[in-house]
Amino acid sequence: MKANIIGLSLVILVVSGCKPKPDVSAPLNDRLWGQEGGLAVYLYTLSNKNGMEVKITNYGGIITSVKVPDKKGVKDNVVLGFDSLSSYQSGHPYFGSLVGRYGNRIAKGKFVLDDIAYSLAVNNGVNHLHGGIKGFDKQVFRVDTAWSAMDSAVLELSYLSPDMEEGYPGNLQVRVSYVITGSNEIKIWYEAETDKATVLNLTNHSYFNLTGCRENILNHELVLMADSITPTDTTLIPTGVLAPVAGTPFDFTSAHKIGERIGEVPGGYDINYKLRNITGELVKVAEVYEPISGRLLEVFTTQPGVQFYTGNFLDGSLKGYQGINYQKHHGFCLETQHFPDSPNKPGFPSVVLRPGEQYKHLTVYKFSVR
Ligand code: GLA
Repeated sequence: MKANIIGLSLVILVVSGCKPKPDVSAPLNDRLWGQEGGLAVYLYTLSNKNGMEVKITNYGGIITSVKVPDKKGVKDNVVLGFDSLSSYQSGHPYFGSLVGRYGNRIAKGKFVLDDIAYSLAVNNGVNHLHGGIKGFDKQVFRVDTAWSAMDSAVLELSYLSPDMEEGYPGNLQVRVSYVITGSNEIKIWYEAETDKATVLNLTNHSYFNLTGCRENILNHELVLMADSITPTDTTLIPTGVLAPVAGTPFDFTSAHKIGERIGEVPGGYDINYKLRNITGELVKVAEVYEPISGRLLEVFTTQPGVQFYTGNFLDGSLKGYQGINYQKHHGFCLETQHFPDSPNKPGFPSVVLRPGEQYKHLTVYKFSVR
């Protein structure tokens, strides 16, 4: 009876969109996965009664696998990843990672905030990318909560990023909560506070492949509720203007196969879309359907942008689950975010976080079949 009441209150909280606060916990299934810098790294399994099973590690907050059923009920892993910690430690292009302090690029790693010039680590040609040389994707997070109840599971991770880490000002306390719900959703809450004015743009860099990672993603059908993109220069820094997608291969306002017009986009898609939700409410922004498996992924977010990236830099050199070599376009990312290089673009929504303010964002990846 007690378990039922706990389960019911959890379901109400999850449905209403609040972050659930457990009063009783059944520990999550976890195992010691290895070590990084003398700190213990664990792999957690979060599941629900539908048989959805998500694995997340406190190394880089990485989602390492997401098993969901296809239309025949056959479960398969729909994200790119590895089954050993050492594979992640040997280097990878942010598979499933929690990206910070800044998702995507900051031009030449420089910005000015309150008349102070900051220089960040430069790790992508002349630019700063995804938090620098040792971004959040390579940090060991503290595990604050790891529990399951009835039909849901929660993993709360936190990290104190010290003042000037990778060049960013302020001691930044970050909390990221992953919740698996009974409706086959992965909810990711991002929260942070700082003790000095800083810039912040957290995201998750999962590469999805709804075939169960068996084929490339070019036959997936995408709808992106976005009317414009932020075009970039040759180093992938936004020029600062917004360009309408209408009449271009970037227009996914109605369903198109990802591969249909990709040949017209040199290298493949790697671009930030300005979403329609400017209010900061949680709204649906994307839908991806894979016709053979019948799997559907819906994306909801409070963020103003999303980076649509089609795994253009994958080249077959990384071998993931089931011994599959990840070739070009083997996964797609929908990285919900603020726009790249916002610290240098006064016209873009602000990414400044000040002492006393609370950074708060929510993104939901929901799986079903059609
Ligand atoms: C992001 C970027 C890409 C690339 C990948 C990681 O999506 O926009 O250009 O750097 O991350 O390989």
